[in-house]
Amino acid sequence: MITLITGAAGRIGACLRGGLPALGHRLRLTDRAPIEDADVDQVVGDITDPATLTRAMEGVRAVVHLAGDPSTAASFDSVLDANIEGTYRVFEAARLAGVERIVFASSNHAAGFTPRQECAPADTPVRPDSLYGVSKAYGEALGRYYADRYGMRVACLRIGSFEPRPPDARALSTWLSPGDMVRLAHACLTAPDLTYALVWGVSANTRGWLDLEPGRALGYHPCDDAEVYAAELPGLDVADPDYAWLGGRTVES
Ligand SMILES: NC(=O)c1ccc[n+]([C@@H]2O[C@H](COP(=O)([O-])OP(=O)(O)OC[C@H]3O[C@@H](n4cnc5c(N)ncnc54)[C@H](O)[C@@H]3O)[C@@H](O)[C@H]2O)c1
Repeated sequence: MITLITGAAGRIGACLRGGLPALGHRLRLTDRAPIEDADVDQVVGDITDPATLTRAMEGVRAVVHLAGDPSTAASFDSVLDANIEGTYRVFEAARLAGVERIVFASSNHAAGFTPRQECAPADTPVRPDSLYGVSKAYGEALGRYYADRYGMRVACLRIGSFEPRPPDARALSTWLSPGDMVRLAHACLTAPDLTYALVWGVSANTRGWLDLEPGRALGYHPCDDAEVYAAELPGLDVADPDYAWLGGRTVES
């Protein structure tokens, strides 16, 4: 059975298409940007185009939905197109094709306007810090609906800071390493008991403030910790918005 990755030409897509095959996943890739590799099973097109998605979903058991505008500064028109309409088209095409499960790339920015706390639950209520965050909250709601109404198994990953290494002091708490991204996607693609889940997409960071237990319950056991990079980065003042809010300085942008 095939797993489809949308947004496969992007940064997280490149990570997953590199890491998931070794864990036994047969992949199909879709993106509006072609992937320059003659050997890959891919459908090039836009996720707002139902015909593209019908072709992409053929024989697919699970979808990892990454395609979209990933910027916290995204305009309304941009999130409306890729994140709102596109995400609906992906869920609906998956339903029509009989796909069993969807792993949706949400974001910590869906709850970014939440004051920082010791161990924020993965189901921290929606409190977006940007139109981008609003679009991710919408994707989570769509996932909940398709799980409840159609019995689709849906995992929404509230991803923190996906980077090869933590880029700033905030990321010492919110980093998601490439290796853990693969482990998280694999867990969500294989968890037998998944119905609907919200999980934080972060590594096992010593300075983390996000509850990893719901991810662990699905079989996600993060191996990386941003602390190994701490000496290279400045500390965070408690008054800094990057410290004060789950969404960091995005709340002020
Ligand atoms: N990188 C992070 O730290 C992070 C954090 C939280 C959430 N996310 C989410 O994870 C997903 C992937 O992020 P990324 O960092 O790999 O982003 P990226 O920009 O590198 O990749 C996104 C891909 O989606 C494709 N795409 C965009 N709109 C499309 C459309 N309408 N039709 C078809 N393809 C389209 C782009 O061509 C691109 O290849 C995004 O949904 C993003 O919001 C990322």
